[in-house]
Amino acid sequence: MAESMKGLKRSHRCTELSSANIGETVTVMGWVHKSRNKGGIIFVDLRDRTGLLQIIFEEEDTGAEDFSKAEKLKSEYVIAVVGKVEKRSGAVNPNLKTGDIEIRASQLRILSESETPPFPVEENSKTKEELRLKYRYIDLRRPDLQRNLIMRSKVANITRQFLSEEGFLEIETPMLTKSTPEGARDYLVPSRVHQGNFYALPQSPQLFKQLLMCSGYDRYFQIVKCFRDEDLRADRQPEFTQIDLELSFADIEDVIDVNERLLHRIFKEVLDIEIELPIKRMTYEEAMDRYGSDKPDTRFGMELVNVSEVVKDCSFTVFTDTVANGGSVRGINVKGQGAMSRKKIDKLVDLSKDFGAKGLAYLSINEDGTYKSSFAKFMTEEELKALVDAMDGQVGDLLLFVADKSEVACEALGSLRLELANQLDLINKDDFNFLWVTDFPLLEYSEEQDRYVAKHHPFTMPAEEDLHLLDTDPGKVRSKAYDIVLNGTEIGGGSVRIYQSDVQEKMFEVLGFSKEDAYERFGFLLNAFKYGVPPHAGLAYGLDRLIMLMAKEDSIRDVIAFPKVKDASCLMTDAPNTVDVKQLDELAISIKKDLDKE
Ligand code: AMO
Ligand code: AMP
Repeated sequence: MAESMKGLKRSHRCTELSSANIGETVTVMGWVHKSRNKGGIIFVDLRDRTGLLQIIFEEEDTGAEDFSKAEKLKSEYVIAVVGKVEKRSGAVNPNLKTGDIEIRASQLRILSESETPPFPVEENSKTKEELRLKYRYIDLRRPDLQRNLIMRSKVANITRQFLSEEGFLEIETPMLTKSTPEGARDYLVPSRVHQGNFYALPQSPQLFKQLLMCSGYDRYFQIVKCFRDEDLRADRQPEFTQIDLELSFADIEDVIDVNERLLHRIFKEVLDIEIELPIKRMTYEEAMDRYGSDKPDTRFGMELVNVSEVVKDCSFTVFTDTVANGGSVRGINVKGQGAMSRKKIDKLVDLSKDFGAKGLAYLSINEDGTYKSSFAKFMTEEELKALVDAMDGQVGDLLLFVADKSEVACEALGSLRLELANQLDLINKDDFNFLWVTDFPLLEYSEEQDRYVAKHHPFTMPAEEDLHLLDTDPGKVRSKAYDIVLNGTEIGGGSVRIYQSDVQEKMFEVLGFSKEDAYERFGFLLNAFKYGVPPHAGLAYGLDRLIMLMAKEDSIRDVIAFPKVKDASCLMTDAPNTVDVKQLDELAISIKKDLDKE
């Protein structure tokens, strides 16, 4: 039985009512959250996206017909109620925004009924995520998800407002396009008209925003879907949203300035948190050196220490050989954990191997000043003391060391540092620590492809002072790329772009593209540069990641209305799915027969 709304108009959302409305007759609509029949008097918690409101039904107010409807109400029925706002008759509920009032109903309409939902609509649901995602439309009624999506909408609005005030134009770029490289795999869309040809969904609007700069649009932004066919993690989705922007006649400082003010505004208006400006900066080299990560979590210490100089002549060959071969020995001091059990330390050793280290040497400083260590027996007292001093080791501390190629040692210890911070609960979850990481290497060597690939993307400007190294030592060239990091997550990245055709061509050459190759793939950009291109720079945020951190969620899925799961499928729609042969025929596509077997 679905009644019509005819003649009724919602006057307020649930929590738009307060004691200021006492005495008014109002019309409210929403979902039955809970219904309790106390015999002759029925209490219903009405829910909408703003929260809960208590309704009281008594036959003398509603008449017999509507009262018998009220007796039938069950969770998730959608109803309309006309009634009078009153001071709450029972105890005030301090946990509810509307806890001091209730609506005495005079009319009830059941707009639609509901089957028993597969799980209750409640905060902090214990329901398995798979079930929640299958019935996402019910899951999305939960207050936690509603808060997240409301926050997301707010952030998008503030961004639009702020950037518009700053002279940015919102311009859309195509979704059906040619592949633009960001290092991930493309999602392809077959063309019916040009059989055998494919569009790619954009991994980012990178080339288009640069072309808009060529066209004189000066300051561009877009809140835009991007698509990357890569392995998913807690902070990755195959389709995600960027706040993408680009500025002409701008250098690093201009980009940083406008973005710091944008972040400041977002955090102030949404969380009432004052970000301290300017945001701290750190070069990539320093970040790797001190934190073993290009996105350091600076909410806690336990920084890496390079002890190569201290141990280079000691008698422990694991250390000395590594240093002699150009590697380094790095350590972290896990304060106060000297009493950690052997079993736990062994687990750390295993973990360090998962993180790429060959081994993990440990030393804990006992109460009596003696050491418990995997390598102390190989070193003299003086050598040990020098090492402990270099690590600022105190009684009760646990020192961990990795000897390896510097990169490997840093990354392994960096990962171990994060793991230990979680295990030992060293992170204040209320902190928001922002950091710019600058001076990234321009290139990184890909063993898999046996060539250099762009660390950010091929349009990133090399640092002027390193240009001469492009031919001789490309791995050493730094770039004008920067990332914005929040609490150890990269929430955005960008760069100053190459705008000189000769530098761009040189870059393609270093990346191993022939001139023909480069023109085949990016000719439209290279040609555009021949007709007047302003110096330009930009940045893109991962909006989903930003919201995930602002909402203090562990998974990006909790801030996306309809997310995909690990294997990139959607549990609600069952996408991706097979299609009719007819559809495939139109596209001149046939599916390899042995697919089932594979
Ligand atoms: P980049 O590739 O660094 O830069 O992407 C920008 C930001 O987007 C977010 N992000 C993702 N979020 C969720 N799921 C994913 N799979 C995913 N991949 C990236 C990250 C990242 O910092 N065109 C350049 C920007 C520029 O140079 O202006 C770009 O796309 O938070
Ligand atoms: P070994 O003599 O090989 O038993 O090594 C002595 C200690 O050094 C053990 O605790 C090893 O785990 C540790 N170790 C071995 N290789 C490395 C390395 N590359 N970095 C740090 N510690 C190591």
